[in-house]
Amino acid sequence: MPLARRSFILGGAHTPFLGKGHPDFVWQKHPDFGKRENPSLEETLLAAVDGALADTGVDPALVDRLYIGNFVGELFVNQGHLGAALVGCNPAFEGKPAARLEGACASGGLAMLAATDAIAAGADIVLVAGVEIQTTASARVGGDYLARAADYKRQRGIDDFTFPALFARRIKALSESAGLTDEDLAHIAAKAYANAALNPNAHMKARKMTFEEAASAGGRNPNFLGNEELAPFLKVSDCSQVSDGASALILVSERGLQKLGRSMADCAEVIGSGHAVSSLFVDGDPTELSTVRTAVHRAYASAGIGIQDVQVAEVHDCFTVAELLSYEAIGLAAKGQGGSVAASGRTALDGELPVNTGGGLIGFGHPVGATGVKQPLEIFRQMKGRCGDYQVDRPLSVGLTSNMGGDDKTVVSLVIRNCT
Ligand code: CAA
Repeated sequence: MPLARRSFILGGAHTPFLGKGHPDFVWQKHPDFGKRENPSLEETLLAAVDGALADTGVDPALVDRLYIGNFVGELFVNQGHLGAALVGCNPAFEGKPAARLEGACASGGLAMLAATDAIAAGADIVLVAGVEIQTTASARVGGDYLARAADYKRQRGIDDFTFPALFARRIKALSESAGLTDEDLAHIAAKAYANAALNPNAHMKARKMTFEEAASAGGRNPNFLGNEELAPFLKVSDCSQVSDGASALILVSERGLQKLGRSMADCAEVIGSGHAVSSLFVDGDPTELSTVRTAVHRAYASAGIGIQDVQVAEVHDCFTVAELLSYEAIGLAAKGQGGSVAASGRTALDGELPVNTGGGLIGFGHPVGATGVKQPLEIFRQMKGRCGDYQVDRPLSVGLTSNMGGDDKTVVSLVIRNCT
């Protein structure tokens, strides 16, 4: 469906994404342990919202509506009702309409869609945020919380780390049917860590991961699953991070731009969107991401573009195999050819279609509710030349996002065009 009223990204902000492996993250072996605490959900969200208001210069009193993506605040920090938490970020928001959207790791993408829908329905200035705090629990306990994004009753028992195991199952299927190798996946992990090393906000900015380390299990990169059948197929380097963080951005209509006295040239326009959802209770083909394909092709159709027009992309690399299969789902590679695209360097920062330039979910980090807001903001920042050391060194006019909840279940895709 074409968008009924035009929506423009005016700017926004990320907090640093924090967690184990980040030099500022306080955990048991950190010198500050016991002296200082990691930022709370309230502090993290406030930092992103204040950052978005500062970046855009928008007077908070002029914001018409607010949306927030969050998956499981109730479990990690005993906090739900986050629409009201978002309103609590600024006294000028008091009484304004606000709501939380939840679609597992696509919660942020759903918040973006709610905002474009609100603009289509007449709103002019909308604030969109995404937040998740996940480091309050161990990775193993967090694995149980995150398993709520799967069919819990049926799939929880596959492993303590349910989602890593579900994607190990995809790697196993591809290894057996299409000759997928550790090297194919290692190219994606090494790219993620190399990009993150250039990104000051990235969770893994200080962790080196060479192609050789990512290609073999052992040492700091073990096969960690308890499920003996699946364990050999997944290493720590294949996984996204357990991160705390938030992103927020301001979306405006044409009338909103007039109200703010701003020009279109300050913005990037959301020119297409796609949203697709598959049943939680049925497993799809493990060798493809069919819901991602449907959502992305809906976004292409609504924008009137195809993969040949895309110059930069943010895809949902919750695991290396998810990025590889996304190459196929977005039309960059034919079925079974995702590995050769990964190996070719085409999606590297200096490649012809850079993907996940700030490190993706593996390198930048994956505070799950924030990811779907982080992605379009990253496309905007790349288009406006704001990415510092990881800036793509040529003009970018069309970008794509693909934000996936669960194991290819809820997917939101956006097509974004730079306004000049
Ligand atoms: N040798 C053998 N085993 C080891 C090991 C070693 N050297 N180091 C660790 N392990 C094993 C241990 O069993 C350990 O568990 P316990 O300490 O509880 O025994 C386990 O690996 C995890 O170790 P850590 O807790 O030390 O690992 P970590 O904190 O570095 O976490 C990770 C690594 C488990 C891969 C973690 O980063 C992770 O869980 N990542 C995935 C997060 C995730 O699933 N996110 C959701 C993605 S899915 C999505 O996006 C869609 C959606 O809707 C949910």
